[in-house]
Amino acid sequence: MTPPILAVRNLRKSYSVSVGAFAAASHHATAVENVSFDLERGETLGIVGESGCGKTTLARMLMRLIEPDSGEIDYRGENFLAAKGSNLRTLRRGIQMVFQDPAGSLDPRMPVAAIVGEPLAIHEPQLSRTEARARIIETLAAVGMEADALTRYPHEFSGGQKQRVGIARALILRPEIVIGDEPVSALDVSVGAQILELLAKLQRDLNLTYILISHSLPVVAQLATRVAVMRKGSFVEIGPATEVLTNPIDPYAKSLLAAVPEIPA
Ligand SMILES: Nc1ncnc2c1ncn2[C@@H]1O[C@H](COP(=O)(O)OP(=O)(O)OP(=O)(O)O)[C@@H](O)[C@H]1O
Ligand SMILES: [Mg+2]
Repeated sequence: MTPPILAVRNLRKSYSVSVGAFAAASHHATAVENVSFDLERGETLGIVGESGCGKTTLARMLMRLIEPDSGEIDYRGENFLAAKGSNLRTLRRGIQMVFQDPAGSLDPRMPVAAIVGEPLAIHEPQLSRTEARARIIETLAAVGMEADALTRYPHEFSGGQKQRVGIARALILRPEIVIGDEPVSALDVSVGAQILELLAKLQRDLNLTYILISHSLPVVAQLATRVAVMRKGSFVEIGPATEVLTNPIDPYAKSLLAAVPEIPA
């Protein structure tokens, strides 16, 4: 058996929350508690749960954008939370994120070439301008965008096109794992469906492993091979998508499913 690409154990994160008008007192509110899972190469783990249950906090810990209070993350068999310096940079580029709000996550002052090329400029500065440009064009093509987008600015694009640019930016470093944090919830349903189809195609073409986060069970159902149901910071159920989406055991997972009229096959 091949080892999991990512092994997460007992992750926990609390935020200090100010109490009272003068914020003299504070207490800790737990956003993520005791989350453990293995991510297998090539799978899509869907994480579903209502607003505020801790999905983004978990994603940000997996990216090491925020540090957990406790717990462990092994990535490629290495202790990701202890990684430093160039080793950390190498590991970090293997996990990239696609964000919810394509408008807000793209710098409005930068043309698409700079937005998509920025991670390359940071991580592969040895590339010549011609080589970098070729990588940018190739990555834009992979997300269905023409080279004439290079000199244009985010406001010139529709929401779906902006999200394609966001996906290109996530893919330019050729990551192994892509975390989509509500990647289609800011989009119209039909545009969102096209983006989900694109993500599925990219996964096949580029051998990607996905974590797909959404408050929407039908969105998760479209791509996930395994589903985790999150509530108040913890996974209440995790299992094969076919089982969790048709016959969940946990009462909260049952209630989520019951609230969806029909899951598209
Ligand atoms: N920087 C922060 N400081 C304090 N509390 C925070 C911070 N970020 C998140 N929280 C709190 O932690 C909890 C989990 O938030 P998180 O954003 O991870 O949830 P979420 O599942 O991503 O929600 P949504 O579906 O709305 O995106 C919430 O109660 C939130 O208010
Ligand atoms: Mg969130």
